[in-house]
Amino acid sequence: MSIKQSVLELFEENENVYLSGEEIAKKLFVSRNAVWKAVRDLKEDGYDISAVTNKGYCMNSNSGILSKQSVEKNLDKSRFDVNVYKVVDSTNTLAKELAEKGAKEGTVVIAEEQTAGKGRMGRIFYSPKGTGLYMSIVLRPGIRADEAVCITAMAAVCVAESIESVCDNKAEIKWVNDVYCNRKKVCGILTQGAVNFESGFFDYAIVGIGINVAEPPEGFPESISDIAGAVFKSINLKSDIKSVLAAEILNRFILYYDSFDKKTFLDEYKRRSFLIGEDILVVRANEMIPAKAVQITDNCGLVVEYENKTSEILTSGEVSIKIGRNK
Ligand code: BTN
Repeated sequence: MSIKQSVLELFEENENVYLSGEEIAKKLFVSRNAVWKAVRDLKEDGYDISAVTNKGYCMNSNSGILSKQSVEKNLDKSRFDVNVYKVVDSTNTLAKELAEKGAKEGTVVIAEEQTAGKGRMGRIFYSPKGTGLYMSIVLRPGIRADEAVCITAMAAVCVAESIESVCDNKAEIKWVNDVYCNRKKVCGILTQGAVNFESGFFDYAIVGIGINVAEPPEGFPESISDIAGAVFKSINLKSDIKSVLAAEILNRFILYYDSFDKKTFLDEYKRRSFLIGEDILVVRANEMIPAKAVQITDNCGLVVEYENKTSEILTSGEVSIKIGRNK
């Protein structure tokens, strides 16, 4: 851990308390000059740290900055290794690189901004700075690749429950990977991974979660403005809501993941799935087929009934669903 991170950790443990440079230096076994430099760098990052002669340094608790410390202090269990970045191309890509190098299960990559956020089916996930939370979790789940859809479903339940725990919005799920508030998409989930061809089991899986925590000040791009929404209309830049939300999701994730074989998330997934009973369009390659969404199976597939009364269970990542028949 760098001196800057150690100083930040100390401030996080002593919010709104003055610590002298000498005290910090002694605790961390570094020079006072090193402490001064670390404080300067933290201030440059936007942390609200005041320096008062004869008292020392004091960090205001609400910096609003997403950091390893701000997320970890809200975690119930220390089963995660949280890594926070200001900007990455894609947290899924970085998490994959780490997994390839042997990163352990529970490695988490969080970013404040993505320059090439990935969505399902090769789409781009709009990931502006400041208003979103972009997070990927490395798993080594010991399950078959065809169960990936259930990991996505489980993550959707975690996100929906976490959103409801931090705000008054009701959170619903659109099969398979989207979370909606007020009929607008506020979160997308992309599960990727590497499969061992001989066993058919995952070597690793990456669960990527992208949340529009607030509306971007300039609004959503026109291409997504009719479907995209946000958990909050706006957020106080000094609020630590993103750290709290990230930790809430991870806290729930670990509980459901520990009993993954029992699928304890499934009832909640079914209960929150708002497509059931709706007229939909099944979009596959260039085709759009009118159907009715009938039910969610115990393997997290979507049963659809076509106009000719034949049914199909959709499980594939190559299928997407549009709501209504005329959209
Ligand atoms: C979708 O809606 O199609 C899925 C979007 C998934 C976006 C998240 S943001 C964090 C992680 N990193 C990525 O590049 N994608 C996922």
